[in-house]
Amino acid sequence: MTLQFSLASASPETVETACVVVGVYEGGVLTSAAARIDSAAEGAIKRQVESGDITGKGGSAAVLFAPAGVTARRVLVVGLGQQKAFDAARFQRVHADAARALGRLPVDSAVSYLSEIDVPGRDATWRLRTAVLATDHASYRYTATFKPREKSAQPELASMAFAGNADAQAGLDQGVAIAEGVRFARELANLPPNICNPAYIASQAQAFAAEHADTVSCRVLDHEEMEKLGFGSLLAVGRGSTNRPKLVALEYAGGAEGDKPYAFVGKGITFDSGGISLKPGAGMEEMKFDMGGAAGVLGGFVAAVKLGVKLNLVCVVPAAENMPDGDSYRPSDVLTSLSGLTIEVLNTDAEGRLILCDALTWTVQTYQPQAIVDAATLTGACVIALGKHATGLMSKHDDLAAELLAAGEATLDRAWRLPLWDDYQTQLESGFADVANIGGKSAGAITAGCFLSRFTEGQRWAHLDIAGTAWDEGRKGLATGRPVPLLAQWLLDRSEK
Ligand code: BES
Ligand code: MN
Ligand code: ZN
Repeated sequence: MTLQFSLASASPETVETACVVVGVYEGGVLTSAAARIDSAAEGAIKRQVESGDITGKGGSAAVLFAPAGVTARRVLVVGLGQQKAFDAARFQRVHADAARALGRLPVDSAVSYLSEIDVPGRDATWRLRTAVLATDHASYRYTATFKPREKSAQPELASMAFAGNADAQAGLDQGVAIAEGVRFARELANLPPNICNPAYIASQAQAFAAEHADTVSCRVLDHEEMEKLGFGSLLAVGRGSTNRPKLVALEYAGGAEGDKPYAFVGKGITFDSGGISLKPGAGMEEMKFDMGGAAGVLGGFVAAVKLGVKLNLVCVVPAAENMPDGDSYRPSDVLTSLSGLTIEVLNTDAEGRLILCDALTWTVQTYQPQAIVDAATLTGACVIALGKHATGLMSKHDDLAAELLAAGEATLDRAWRLPLWDDYQTQLESGFADVANIGGKSAGAITAGCFLSRFTEGQRWAHLDIAGTAWDEGRKGLATGRPVPLLAQWLLDRSEK
């Protein structure tokens, strides 16, 4: 069930809902909505501040039940942390805290006044968009592969309203559209690889196109068609698996006919065992998320369609499974890519770049895009460099890099740029082919980017390495839906121009 979002203009003390949400800063400073509740309820919040039941500390939350003088039966008081430290990240976090607290209460509706809290440097559109995104993100549950449960008698949160005037509607609508893309990406990436294989990704893209047939179309190339066209690199990666590779291309006509499209390309390795260069067993299960780039660009595409951005967009996903087999490709194989460049395979575990290079070539040949952004869980080295917080951004185009960094800042889906200088290219030299598929020990994220750069020459192209950001670590770690917000914001910014 998806959460419904709307705007509310009523006062907190008289609004009709199962639960009102207000904030209190550390030290007991009340927001204006909390102060209205407090005076209607004759000091009910302040009394609990004095008793120490409400601290206002970040991450804390308290419930007032049936306070006199307030129409709603419950008031959720969320801790905002120190007032002077309240910023965009805090704003996002308190909305997530509120959503989680609401998820534990027997309420089906809520009205939150946290969306009114001023954030330095951000406007009402930003606040509403962020409130919806943070709330929807925190409310997401993965249920697809559990035994279906009896519907519990306890009501579940189904509708959420945020305080805001009519001028906040655009932000709310943007939030709802982007949240759909985020959910699409998370659900696809969380599915196990015995369900989410290349054919499944293709079927999901086709289903989305069928639901939006007025503006969206989908083409899928199977391995035989790719064989004829010369996808020698992509097909080599998939050869060890009985789940045959697919190339999925979604097209969205939101701009003028004939306008060059923007292009997304996403790595769709539905499981990365490493192939003949087999990965160690510990942690291998995380490699079901190796289609996180595909999920991210598909989610970005979904968001773009839901936003109705006024531009043309294509989304290309090379999908394959990297498995060891008697027919697998092997270290020392030389592949002929779609571009004609030959590639010496020195490690079958550096497979992402091998499917992306053919997909990038095909995207350029087929669409002549005005800009290309790829997303890929490409290197462990990127996780070493930037950890789980920043996506690695690589581009030779300073203006494109700046646009993407800004979109990441705006949505708190942040990227950090790494250099793509030609100095690193020598690490990819081979004695047997035009290029080797690995660049040695140092600068692994950058040499992977350098490899891709050889297939995008003359293109306005940027690469996002989301190896650290696409999913949360741990046994219960879920797909994050990154970089959907960044991609959606980037297109929104382009579309408003
Ligand atoms: N999918 C992995 C990268 C990865 C590793 C993402 C860990 C997230 C967490 C990729 O296909 C891979 O195996 N890369 C190798 C490249 C190496 C062989 C040059 C890596 O990072 O070790
Ligand atoms: Mn690999
Ligand atoms: Zn991989």
